[in-house]
Amino acid sequence: MTAEVRFRFDGKVAIVTGAARGVGREIVRAFVEAGAHVVAADRDGEGLAETCAPHGDVVASVIADVSTGEGAKAIVERAVAAFGRLDICVNDAAVAPHAALLEERVDVWDRVYAVNCRGTFLMTQAAARAMIAGGRGGRIINFSSGAAQRGAAGGAAYASSRAATETFSRVAAIELAPHGILVNTISPGLIDTQPKPLPPDMAKRLAARIPNLPLARPGRPDEVAQLVLFLASDASSYINGAVISIDGASSAGSRFSGVVVDDDTRYDWVTGRSRSGP
Ligand SMILES: NC(=O)c1ccc[n+]([C@@H]2O[C@H](COP(=O)([O-])OP(=O)(O)OC[C@H]3O[C@@H](n4cnc5c(N)ncnc54)[C@H](O)[C@@H]3O)[C@@H](O)[C@H]2O)c1
Repeated sequence: MTAEVRFRFDGKVAIVTGAARGVGREIVRAFVEAGAHVVAADRDGEGLAETCAPHGDVVASVIADVSTGEGAKAIVERAVAAFGRLDICVNDAAVAPHAALLEERVDVWDRVYAVNCRGTFLMTQAAARAMIAGGRGGRIINFSSGAAQRGAAGGAAYASSRAATETFSRVAAIELAPHGILVNTISPGLIDTQPKPLPPDMAKRLAARIPNLPLARPGRPDEVAQLVLFLASDASSYINGAVISIDGASSAGSRFSGVVVDDDTRYDWVTGRSRSGP
């Protein structure tokens, strides 16, 4: 199957945080392919250099920590200094350490919230200020996780921090709409960004989980990048304040294998099935 939909961002400038690996790296690649200039930001300088190497001077890199005011300011200022404007800001950077609730450490909890929540807030605020100064509106795309919608052991800090991102983004969508800035949230299910080779426990967990996903596979980073392009494009001009899942239906339920059998006789009067018949 060939996807014929193409979004173009010639003349547009996009920030992508969390660009040193995983989904962020793929979002940078997708924007470059679609004609945008990109500011790729991350705290990991080595990974960032690998992301940027293939793209030449259409990508500017910034080593910065999104959880600090100085970091967020440096990233946004780089976009305006390098390319003269800012149209799109994708806040992909996040951390997801897991711990049993009874073992959870306060300093780790605070760091998760600093990156995932404060970072999203600081980047949204700094990007929105630059977009308003530019007078052309803009798009801000934040990240959540399917984990925000369900309980899962070990995810107290991460899952709740992602839920906070969703609510924050709804508020931002309302406050920034008068400026022509749309704010949406992407909520991925399992995406194939885990370290390779997989650490042993993670390998065991994924081997048990993946066959039960409705599509029996994790999503690919490039599939998430295509959703980012859609939300950054004119094709999504009336989507604002939304949380959009990209999870192959894992939030809907588990993989179906087998046939549907209904031998509940209570509804024979609805189906017309006779008790003696098939
Ligand atoms: N991979 C999944 O299965 C999955 C599932 C649900 C949601 N998500 C969400 O998708 C997004 C991308 O996930 P991923 O798997 O590619 O993540 P990842 O951990 O592979 O990459 C995250 C990147 O963010 C960077 N980063 C972390 N803290 C930072 C900080 N303070 N400042 C700047 N950069 C920082 C890291 O260095 C890294 O390059 C995240 O927002 C995550 O919550 C991922």
